[in-house]
Amino acid sequence: MKENRASVTAQRVAMQRAIHQLLDDPKVFDDPVALRIIGKESASALQADPRQYESTPLASYLRAFVVARSRYAEEELALGVRGTVRQYVILGAGLDTFAYRNPYPQGMLHVFEVDHPATQSWKRARLDEIGMTLPGDLTFAPIDFETQTLEEGLRDAGYDPGKCTFFSWLGVTEYLTTEAVIATLRFIASAPVGIGIVFDYMISSSLLTPAQRARFDALARRVGSAGEPWQAFFDPELLTRDLRAMGFRYVEDIGPDEINARYFRDRKDGLRVGSLSHLMKAHV
Ligand SMILES: C[S@@+](CC[C@H](N)C(=O)[O-])C[C@H]1O[C@@H](n2cnc3c(N)ncnc32)[C@H](O)[C@@H]1O
Repeated sequence: MKENRASVTAQRVAMQRAIHQLLDDPKVFDDPVALRIIGKESASALQADPRQYESTPLASYLRAFVVARSRYAEEELALGVRGTVRQYVILGAGLDTFAYRNPYPQGMLHVFEVDHPATQSWKRARLDEIGMTLPGDLTFAPIDFETQTLEEGLRDAGYDPGKCTFFSWLGVTEYLTTEAVIATLRFIASAPVGIGIVFDYMISSSLLTPAQRARFDALARRVGSAGEPWQAFFDPELLTRDLRAMGFRYVEDIGPDEINARYFRDRKDGLRVGSLSHLMKAHV
């Protein structure tokens, strides 16, 4: 990320969730706050012409992945809360809206939104602009993953390491260095009580076919020109092995075929994810 500038890609992926609410039927991820959070101007423009961002064939792959990863993370969160999870840490939250539609009774699930300080203050200005009431069960934790440890940042925000916690980390790992990704995962794996995480990651380009590689290059150029180049890529087998070595006892990698079978089966509109990213679930 460009120093001290809010993430441009955070607005872009929030736009994808908003477009999904307007264009796709049935919805894979139902988010009643998705349109509001993109800001009044963008919401009006989108409502006037929801197809205006459908200019490339890649657009629907991206939209499908963005909604599938949020659906998956929130399904896993719900399973956790049915058990003992009482804290939800959203890493690199961007314009994530969970905290503003938290379905649990006050005091049951505390949400920590962790993000780069520049993106977080931009989001807070956006929340103010759209008149969003800040829920009592939400704490903002401004942290730069490249220069601060998650441990310090969460401690300063009042995170309780003694409580069972679920983490999500969606659309972020590719923008960080491999070292920052691994350090964060290692911290999570070292938590003293049962925790889980869902995150997504990009496949190493050496594992892609030439056609996939062409899509990868086209998208990489877009995010690079937005000042947020992709930096970290993983091999699913090696990442699974590394997560186990860190101390995650249960690790599940979910590739595009499984995501499509789970969330996009039998659709008439052909909405489905492409093949550049995977989802990963891990539990200590
Ligand atoms: C593509 S957005 C995803 C936002 C959100 N998770 C979502 O799915 O809508 C990438 C997010 O990563 C955050 N990010 C990128 N680099 C970061 C860093 N070094 N430290 C903290 N957050 C960072 C950005 O601020 C942004 O919120």
